[in-house]
Amino acid sequence: MRSSKFRLGAFLLPSAGASPAQYEEGFAGQNPNYYQDGLRDTSRVLRQVEDLGFDFAAFSEHHFHVEGLELSNNPVMLGSWAAMQTRRLRIGQMGNVLPARNPLLLAEDLAMLDHFSEGRMIAGFARGYQSRHVATIGQKLNAYSTQPTDPEFVEHDRQNRELFNEHYEIIRRAWSEPLFRHEGKHWQLPPDGIVWDHPATQTMAPGMVDANGNLRQIGIAPLTLQKPETVETFTPFTTSPATIEWAARENVTPVIFTPIVENAKACIDLYYKAAHEAGRDIEWGESVGHFREIVVADTDAEAFAIMERGLGFIWTRWHDWFGLNEALRRPGEVGVIRNHPSTIRERGYSICGTVDNVTRQLEKVLDDFKTDTLVLWIAAGPAPIDGLLKSNELLVEKVLPKLGIELHQVTPQLRDEFNGRGWRD
Ligand SMILES: Cc1cc2nc3c(=O)[nH]c(=O)nc-3n(C[C@H](O)[C@H](O)[C@H](O)COP(=O)(O)O)c2cc1C
Repeated sequence: MRSSKFRLGAFLLPSAGASPAQYEEGFAGQNPNYYQDGLRDTSRVLRQVEDLGFDFAAFSEHHFHVEGLELSNNPVMLGSWAAMQTRRLRIGQMGNVLPARNPLLLAEDLAMLDHFSEGRMIAGFARGYQSRHVATIGQKLNAYSTQPTDPEFVEHDRQNRELFNEHYEIIRRAWSEPLFRHEGKHWQLPPDGIVWDHPATQTMAPGMVDANGNLRQIGIAPLTLQKPETVETFTPFTTSPATIEWAARENVTPVIFTPIVENAKACIDLYYKAAHEAGRDIEWGESVGHFREIVVADTDAEAFAIMERGLGFIWTRWHDWFGLNEALRRPGEVGVIRNHPSTIRERGYSICGTVDNVTRQLEKVLDDFKTDTLVLWIAAGPAPIDGLLKSNELLVEKVLPKLGIELHQVTPQLRDEFNGRGWRD
């Protein structure tokens, strides 16, 4: 049976608004025209997917992308920009690269996004695989990316996970506890020795300072507008069993990267088992999202052309180097996976074609994985925007009705003490 709560999310890198040939000329990421063009396309997609009934849109976090392929230094700031252009669409990140970030600052920024968007913030946290930024931005934390080709993978992956877990715990506490104290391996919050015998704090924030005037606890302000335990959290494009099990225990939704049926089912098995062990009564497939591209057009050839100018270009020219094609490897298969857009389509990651062909392929995904969440990579930037917009429209207005799907949108649950009068009123 299909979920009656099926929802769609849009994933936007976004990329420079340039053609593949313009990217090859170099430094497309620093070209002001391409950035403005990319924002314009992204803005059109955001407003369209809200109208079409998507549940959320999410941005990635990547730095130093002078090549122009992933222009998303700050997904929370992009989220604020998106929130100002929309009214219902929930706004997320896929994800904040948590080991390299200051967790308190991130908790504050996300809480602000929640207020700016009047409760539409969703949170996404990734471990991070691009060494160029994780090790540069996270150097004071000793953060490393997790990339299996790293000669020091085991140690770096361990350190990455340790930071990820501790940062996650801090963010959750910061959202839900007015005042808290954290003593972990990497952070002491607050550190000892801060004298803060401010009379206003003694009166207005009792408990923050002890009788001797030493700072004992901290708290962020604002807190989230949503009830903190209801803030939906994703861990995007997950590949490792340890992350899936962590997500199952923490009630976090993983977004599975691989389209290969046996491998994706193994991820769902793992999540299902770990969730049940943690006392969560979920159905197999529930609370596990899947990452895909869907391009619908009047002919297969037209859909393929849109795909090859957009995601097909980004994936083969950029992501292959990080091992993305490994996610397409079939069980027992050996040798190099051909780095070509047709591989991405044939192995089911990119679902492209006419309404009938996409309907057939999507039906199989839904039947195989019993999922309630699909996150669609929308290649705004290099892909022709009119083709992308028409594709989204055909998907929602022609394909989904054939499958009997009505899109579901999650309604945020706001704090009980909020009187309902937001800043727009
Ligand atoms: C090729 C590739 C592309 C990825 N793209 C993104 C991305 O756009 N945004 C993001 O937050 N994480 C991205 N991830 C990173 C994953 O979210 C994750 O942090 C990393 O792969 C570690 O996964 P694990 O915790 O399952 O081991 C990508 C990972 C790979 C391998």
